[in-house]
Amino acid sequence: MAADSGDAAIFPEHAVSLAHRFLTPSLFERLSRLKTDTGFTLEQAIRSGRENPDSHIGIYAGDAQTYALFKEIFDPVIRTYHQITGPIRHIPRLEPLDLPDLDPHNQLIVSTRIRVARNLSGHAFSPNITTQNRQIVARQVQQALDALPESLQGHFHAMDALTLDQIQNQAFQGTAFLPGDRFQASAGINRNFPVSRGVFTSHDRTFRVWINEEDHLRIICLEKTGNLSKVFNRMVSALAHIREPIDFASDPRLGYLTACPTNIGTAMRAGVHIRLPHLENHPNRLKRLASTYGLQIRGTLGEKTAVTESVFDISNRFRLGTGETQLIQTLHTGIAAIIEAETRLAESGPESPEP
Ligand code: ARG
Repeated sequence: MAADSGDAAIFPEHAVSLAHRFLTPSLFERLSRLKTDTGFTLEQAIRSGRENPDSHIGIYAGDAQTYALFKEIFDPVIRTYHQITGPIRHIPRLEPLDLPDLDPHNQLIVSTRIRVARNLSGHAFSPNITTQNRQIVARQVQQALDALPESLQGHFHAMDALTLDQIQNQAFQGTAFLPGDRFQASAGINRNFPVSRGVFTSHDRTFRVWINEEDHLRIICLEKTGNLSKVFNRMVSALAHIREPIDFASDPRLGYLTACPTNIGTAMRAGVHIRLPHLENHPNRLKRLASTYGLQIRGTLGEKTAVTESVFDISNRFRLGTGETQLIQTLHTGIAAIIEAETRLAESGPESPEP
């Protein structure tokens, strides 16, 4: 092993994360002396990666300044995750689109979901936010949501007084979200849950905002349709309205800043829930298609979950270095190719699955 590669004394020996890969002992030693203005340290940033050796990324930002102060560890993680070879450059492009519906009869696509993450500038991010600041964030976001135009109006559901049972029920209905997983728990994201957490749901239920989950805001457009443009165009308009009264944490190079470095840049994850009973038996073919189009495959209930009833969650993997509109176009092309492969397998009749 190279003398200056990942150190077992920093991460457990079997750790697989990018933070582990790039944090050399000398870098660790140097960055360990630093602290951001909100008091966030490298030790806190990598706690989740250390406690969960199966982390893929293993590092979180406690505030916007984390990305600058700990650039030497964040930049290589960002480059590797978002597959950036040249200079890191955020390219914002939020223009409406008009793409054909991928599944007009809803034969395979169950739903389309687009979410973007945002954080308010001037407040620590979820791993390091104080109880008081979390409350201020919730109030400011609520005020901004109150001012939305008619088509986006809805109800705000505060989660503060709910029991875990109630939260589970309401999460199912889309009016609450569950506490974060063990990765988020180790990062400090679940502190004081469910205080100052809440969900805004539009009257037609297709537009939602999660408040104080992994990021201050998770803005979500969700419809039972294969029409990506329709859902994306709604997001473009919602973002234009929410942006007005709020100043979001961003950086010219890194784009929108988020708690997890996988989400920076456009901070957008756009995807479909799609039923693929034939491709399910050909996992390598599906993986190849996903990789060709820069897509990520998740389980039915989201990140790190299993696939049930052949329903896959397929979405853009990279969020930085490509504009939002382009990301949707690539997703459209990729899902079309996946539908074509699924249809071809369905037509070719029974055959033995991949070993
Ligand atoms: N920290 C986890 C890991 O390193 C999750 C990373 C991406 N997911 C997220 N929700 N930010 O594997």
